[in-house]
Amino acid sequence: MPEAKSNADALLKSVMDNKTPESYSPGLEGVVAAKSKLCSIDGAAGKLYYMGYPIEEVVNGSATYEEVAYLFWHGRLPNVKELEAFKDEFSKLRTLPQQVMDFIKLLPHTCHPMDALRTIVSLLAAFDHNPERSPEANLNRAIALTVRFPTIVAAFHRLRQNQTPVEPDPKLSHAANFLYMLFGEKPDDTTAKVMDVAMVLHLDHEMNASTFSSLVTASTLSDMYSAISAGVGTLKGPLHGGANEAVLKMLLEIGDPARVETYVDDALAKKKKIMGFGHRMYKAYDPRARLLKEYARRASEKTKASRLFQITERIEEVMIQKKGKQGIFPNVDLYSGIIYHQMGIPTDIFTPIFAIARVAGWTAHVLEYWQENRLFRPNALYIGPAARKFPPLAQR
Ligand code: SDX
Repeated sequence: MPEAKSNADALLKSVMDNKTPESYSPGLEGVVAAKSKLCSIDGAAGKLYYMGYPIEEVVNGSATYEEVAYLFWHGRLPNVKELEAFKDEFSKLRTLPQQVMDFIKLLPHTCHPMDALRTIVSLLAAFDHNPERSPEANLNRAIALTVRFPTIVAAFHRLRQNQTPVEPDPKLSHAANFLYMLFGEKPDDTTAKVMDVAMVLHLDHEMNASTFSSLVTASTLSDMYSAISAGVGTLKGPLHGGANEAVLKMLLEIGDPARVETYVDDALAKKKKIMGFGHRMYKAYDPRARLLKEYARRASEKTKASRLFQITERIEEVMIQKKGKQGIFPNVDLYSGIIYHQMGIPTDIFTPIFAIARVAGWTAHVLEYWQENRLFRPNALYIGPAARKFPPLAQR
């Protein structure tokens, strides 16, 4: 059937023609996928801005997680009155429906906390009976989800240890409440402040993999819960948010600053990635890592974690020496684990902390994208067989 063959070939040729290899970028490197006012990164200079505010000024200006979340959702910083009202709103939303708590009890204690979080985010959709999909209704969903992430993670952690979940304390900040619900003890002001800073630093980071994943789901006009559970699943990977857990495992494996160079040489020789280093955008020191390093240093001076800090500093020195020229420097995941470790937080809770912080960024990007929504549907560069006849079974 020459007619059909030529049509199929013509179709394949036209498809191939409009996708020249130049337009193919592995991992979408360098591709601009959306417009956003929320966050900008100068990768060459190692600079990060939250709606134009340099991250160093946000942290040194003692902005709390609630303040920055307000900035992302409302497009400006709150004044004193607005912030107080916002904190009240947070404290009203922090508890989970009893059936959701009962479901968390059913999860196997061996379940990874990121799997538990992703599961409960999906489950919360079943308890949202509001059919409204207006920007205001979706903003309320975004706030309620964000506020509940710490409650989910803390409740799962306590239940897997056969401990009773702790009710949040309306007088505590978002960061302090997470530690209170996790340990059952109110954190001292310094510890609460360090957790707040870590959460502010992890709140958003432009078009990272988990934010992009949330946007792809949102772009089909699916719902906020589906978009955010996609973000949680994406963040879990060790190339992304899972790196902080992997860094601590690496530090414990190395065990001694004197063993660092051999460990790094051996890993690099095997083409293994050293967790906590490198970044798709930063070809300089990640500004968040610089800030977290100081908090890790202070925290380590106070506790036995100083050895881990020394090992980390040594890895930084060796990696910059060997890979700095290639633009490989410490990223946000290198020092965060030490901070959480010295707070007594289990390693498998490190990535959930990243999610607890990032959910405000994910939801803010989804709300922003829905204002000018367009379905994400990229192409694939076809490299399969040319058009051909389909052989009947008997002839195979
Ligand atoms: C986060 O995107 C974001 O904004 C993410 C994030 C956020 O806030 O959302 O910043 C959070 O995910 C931070 C990154 C956490 N991940 C890790 O620490 C895992 C280790 N890092 C690498 O896997 C890697 O650096 C990535 C994934 C972070 C970025 O990798 P790219 O841009 O895909 O670069 P690549 O893997 O193609 O590497 C380019 C070269 C390669 O060498 P060659 O094959 O060209 O010789 O650099 C090398 C890589 O082998 N390289 C590393 C390395 N990272 C890159 N070599 C050793 N150790 C590393 N960590």
